[in-house]
Parts: sequence; structure tokens; C-alpha cells
Amino acid sequence: MKVEVGWCAIGLRIGMKWGLVGLMKLIASMVFLIFSVTGLSSAWSGEDYQARGWAATCTGCHGTEGRSVGGIPSLAGMDEQWFVDKMLYYRSEHAKATIMHQHSRGYTIEQINRMARYFQRQVRK
Ligand code: HEC
Repeated sequence: MKVEVGWCAIGLRIGMKWGLVGLMKLIASMVFLIFSVTGLSSAWSGEDYQARGWAATCTGCHGTEGRSVGGIPSLAGMDEQWFVDKMLYYRSEHAKATIMHQHSRGYTIEQINRMARYFQRQVRK
């Protein structure tokens, strides 16, 4: 109860000083601050969840997170530039491939770039 009264008093004092519009601006900026901090923290973690989603379609053949267990090459830890070059090659009309010429054409350059970054970050083990 004491705390609530305290908060009310603070709110009232701010309200009297800055008016209702000022109070609303204060609340809006606090909400904005919270959103920007949470946004930043996901950027700091460096995980591109959308790229991870696209990459999930590759795991059936290339292994979980790109770590192959069979004859198909691993994508985990693959050099970003190598990955992009390979994908662009598969998209070209000269590509000699059994599967990847089809797969690579389903993605935009931006998606390929972001998947390249995602796979490079995965530990090969
Ligand atoms: C149906 C199985 C299959 C799926 C799904 C698949 N691949 Fe492949 N991938 C292959 C095969 C097989 C090769 C070898 C080239 C060929 O014959 O097409 C290959 C080769 C590659 C290579 C070249 C590796 C190297 O070192 O030469 C890259 C890069 C690659 N795939 C990326 C991807 C990405 C990205 C996806 C998802 C968007 C994907 N693949 C989905 C089967 C698959």
C-alpha cells in the first residue's frame, strides 16, 4: 500500500510538472526504451532466426545444423564466401548437380547470404 501511494505521488508530481501530455510522452519513451533494449539483446546474440528457419529445410540431407552424417557434404562451419559461390554456381545454367540446381533457385541472393552466415557460425564438431 505504501509503495502504491509512493508511485501515485511520483506520478502526480510528474503530472503536475509536465502535464498529462508530458506524462504520456514519458511513458511512451519508457516503453520505447524497453523495446529497443530487448531488440538490441537479440542483435547481440547474433542469431538470425529467420535464416535458421530457411536452413532447416537443408538439414534433411546436410544434417542437423548442417552437420552431415552421410555422403552429402556438411554445411556447418563452411566458409561464407564458398557457400555463396557454390549456391550461385548451382543457380547458373552450367551447373552440374543432381539436386542443388533445383534447391538453390528457390532462394533470393539475400536469403543465400544470410544462410551462408548462419552455416558459417555453426560448429562443425
Ligand atoms: C534432397 C537433399 C538435399 C537438400 C534438401 C539440400 N541439399 Fe545441398 N546438396 C545435396 C547434394 C546431393 C549435394 C552435392 C551436389 C549435387 O549433386 O546437387 C549438395 C551440395 C550442396 C552444397 C555444396 C557443398 C560443397 O562443399 O560442395 C551446398 C553449399 C549446399 N548443398 C547447400 C544447401 C542448402 C543451403 C540447402 C537448403 C536450402 C540444401 N543444400 C538442401 C543435397 C541436398
